This record gives sequence, C-alpha cells and structure tokens, in this order.
Amino acid sequence: MATWSAPGKIFLFGEHAVVYGKPGIAMAIKPRVFVTVRKSRVAHHAKSPYIDSCFDMMGVRGSVYVNSQLASSSGLGSSAAVTVATLSAINDEFGKKHRPEEIADMAFAIEKKVQKGRASPTDTTVSTFGGLVLITGTKRRRLPPQNFQLVVGNSLVQHNTARMVEQVASFRQKSPDICNPIIEAIGAISLSAMRHLNDANKLGEYMNMNHALLDALGVGHPQLSRLVLASRAAGAYGAKLTGAGGGGCMIAICPKHLKSRVAGAIEACDARAFSTSIDTEGVRKEKDA
Ligand code: PMV
Repeated sequence: MATWSAPGKIFLFGEHAVVYGKPGIAMAIKPRVFVTVRKSRVAHHAKSPYIDSCFDMMGVRGSVYVNSQLASSSGLGSSAAVTVATLSAINDEFGKKHRPEEIADMAFAIEKKVQKGRASPTDTTVSTFGGLVLITGTKRRRLPPQNFQLVVGNSLVQHNTARMVEQVASFRQKSPDICNPIIEAIGAISLSAMRHLNDANKLGEYMNMNHALLDALGVGHPQLSRLVLASRAAGAYGAKLTGAGGGGCMIAICPKHLKSRVAGAIEACDARAFSTSIDTEGVRKEKDA
C-alpha cells in the first residue's frame, strides 16, 4: 500500500492564454489531495477518467482510495492533483522508479487526453513540484517563493474545464481578430506581473485587468464578478477569477490586516472563502494509514 499527496493550485495570471503558448503564473496552495494505491489482481474502475488513465498508462491493476481537501471542478486543480498523486502512488507501490519530471509529463499527457487535446502543463507541473511557477508553452521556470496574502472565494457554481477551454477555442476560430489580441494581452500581463512579484498593490492592478480580459474571453460568471467586486470593495488590492472560469473560484490579493474582512465580504455573497498561502512542496509520500 502506498499513500501520496499532491497540492492544489491557483492561477495568479494567464489561465486560458497558457493553452495558446502564452506565459502564465501559477502557485501551489496548501489544500492537498491524498491518494492510496494498493496492488490488486482485479481491475477497479475508479469512475474517474483521470485515475483509470493513470493505471492504464502505468500498465498495472490496483485499488485506489482518494481523500481530497480540494473542492472538485472549482478551478483549484483537483484533477491534476489526483492524477499526480495517483501516478506517484502507483510508481511507489509497483516499484516503477519514474522520476518526478516523468510523473509530471505523464500527468500532463493524461490531462490533455481527458481535456480532448487542449491543456497546458500548468496544473500538473505545479502539483508535481510545488512553489511558484512561470509556464510558457511546455517550458516551466520556478520563480522565487512569495508570501502573498491571498483569499480564495469559491462561487459554489460548478464548472467544466474542458467545456470552457473548448468555448475559448471556438471563439478564437470564429473571431480570431478579436480573440487573439485578448490572449496576447493576458500573456503580457503575466510577464509584467513577473517583474513586480514583491509589489502587492501592482499585482492587484494586474489581477483586475486580467479578470476583465477573462470576462472578454467569455469565461466569466455573474457570481464570480460579484465576489471580485465585493473583495475589492472590502479593501483587496485586486481580484480575479482563477482557473477555467464559468464558475469555480476567484482569488483576491489583500493587505494582511484586511484578509478576514475580504473573506467576510465574499461569504456575504453566498460563497465560501478561505485564506491561503504558497505550498513550496510538491507531490510527497505520506505515512500509510
Ligand atoms: O480550472 P482549472 O483548474 O482546471 O484550470 C484550467 C486552466 C486553463 O488554462 C483554462 C486550462 C489549462 O489546461 O491550463
């Protein structure tokens, strides 16, 4: 029996644009997914295309138990965390000896397949290695960890990443002259933000711009915008949706002393809020229960 855990993630900047090779910045956060794998002669179907694909890719059969601290389908990268933790637990339980880089690549291939060919390696990279990461195409660069004061708001509106990614793809196909400049501008924001990582005020401004551009891409949701506006009114430097959009979560960057006020403002809009910080550790082995 082997138990491994992997962290969730938030996109600080650049979701959707990363699917088209533009830069994005993502960060591993504290809630984790725990996966236990045990050898078994019988194939157990996990009802999750991600988990089934992990067993298929590793060419083994086993049973699996998932314990997640992350809300699923909310933009916090739970599917990537499940995939990375499952692959790592299989790797350990069956003595496969794959390196973390290989685990990240396999997890990306699985996400891409389940998301019908359109995915960036962001979630799987962050979940495997932890920390703060700049993603450009298939290149990943670790950035120095930052102590951002962040509040996550979950709109409690479920979304479907594959559907949102497809929606942007069809907008891009129908109106490339409008869609491509939006994607370019989002990429430019990620690059500018990278030069101001220690200036929370400036990052807040960039988050506000990024949120407006995501709305323009068509991946906003009235409830997400409500939470974003409530956070700003409560004193956040800035706020934006995080992940695929159409529901799911938003993030707000705040002065430390206003974090609980911002969280309260989000909860007053019939949503859930929690404050979070960076998890510098990626996938790791846990003690077997
Ligand atoms: O909602 P999430 O956590 O699955 O994030 C999706 C982010 C996208 O950029 C829209 C897709 C991707 O694969 O990067």
